[in-house]
Amino acid sequence: MTKLVEERVSSFKVMIDCVGMRALITGGAGFIGSHLVDRLMEEGSFVVCADDLSLGRKDYIHHHLNSERFVFVECDVRKHNLLAPLFERYAFDVVFHLAANSDIQAGMRDPSIDLERTFFSTYTVLVCMQKYGVKKIVFASTPAVYGMQEWPVGEDTGPLFPISLYGAAKLASEAYISAFVELASMQAWIFRFPNVIGERLTHGVIFDFIKNLRDVPSELTVLGDGKQEKPYMHVSDLIDGILFVFKRTDEARNYFHLGVLDATRVSDIARIVIEEMKLPPVSIVYTGGAQGWRGDVPRFQYDISKVSKLGWRAKLGSTEAVRHTVRALLDELSLK
Ligand SMILES: NC(=O)c1ccc[n+]([C@@H]2O[C@H](COP(=O)([O-])OP(=O)(O)OC[C@H]3O[C@@H](n4cnc5c(N)ncnc54)[C@H](O)[C@@H]3O)[C@@H](O)[C@H]2O)c1
Repeated sequence: MTKLVEERVSSFKVMIDCVGMRALITGGAGFIGSHLVDRLMEEGSFVVCADDLSLGRKDYIHHHLNSERFVFVECDVRKHNLLAPLFERYAFDVVFHLAANSDIQAGMRDPSIDLERTFFSTYTVLVCMQKYGVKKIVFASTPAVYGMQEWPVGEDTGPLFPISLYGAAKLASEAYISAFVELASMQAWIFRFPNVIGERLTHGVIFDFIKNLRDVPSELTVLGDGKQEKPYMHVSDLIDGILFVFKRTDEARNYFHLGVLDATRVSDIARIVIEEMKLPPVSIVYTGGAQGWRGDVPRFQYDISKVSKLGWRAKLGSTEAVRHTVRALLDELSLK
């Protein structure tokens, strides 16, 4: 069904046709956000992307800039005076809140980063939603909220004691979202993603290995003992999973793990990168210790039976997603 988006510009009203949702995506110029923008645009939604480009890139959403169903606003979503006018101007059905600090190690070096970028961005989004009566929020959370656990964990595992400031700021955001659900009769979809990879990746172990081997092809330094083992999920599966669950669940608080059944060791990622870059033998230096860095959870695996029971599963397994991503990044960097 076609909806009209009413855009108020001073005293003018602009009406725009759209068949999907009227969505605000914070952090929409980032790695995952830009794929979500693509998918919602494909579905005929009206999309406002708010991103300060601190970690995102305008060329990731460039192909939508001429669409009348797409608006890009370069702004820091922590700033109420910049965010509120977007809520005033467009009547959003839903906010996909992805803006955050995604650099976990940077957050451990400077403790203000996760508080500012992850927690305060959530707070400002919630305050605007309450003020302008927007009822649905989809939130990008993380298994870092669990800290060290006996794996696998289910969604209801507790108590939760994160060991990184990133995990702490996400957990605090989840708590605030839950309280705003009560305060303002909102509905929340909280997704704890595993390690997400794919085209346009800008950070993480695969990105770092390729970048480092491009600079020095004969040697690779691997943080930790290489035995860190985590599930990796392709971004196309992640977006499928988010929208699948969002469209089929209707509780006040909907919270799900999105994940895959297998996991991949860091030493295997190094091997796959070296194979795909077709490099002669590379000397791999492990820095040692179980953790890659302070705050790293070296191994995790969570129970995904809740989302499986809804009828959703990822198409690519972890190691398949890793190889697919390595190939895609080498193509993007013209290194094949
Ligand atoms: N990539 C993963 O493996 C993974 C796993 C679990 C959760 N997440 C979460 O998913 C979301 C997206 O992650 P990503 O990997 O695409 O990271 P990303 O860094 O590519 O995307 C985050 C985006 O938010 C923007 N941003 C940050 N602070 C902002 C602010 N104050 N105002 C406006 N924009 C701001 C950045 O410029 C960037 O475009 C994040 O919330 C992240 O914590 C990611």
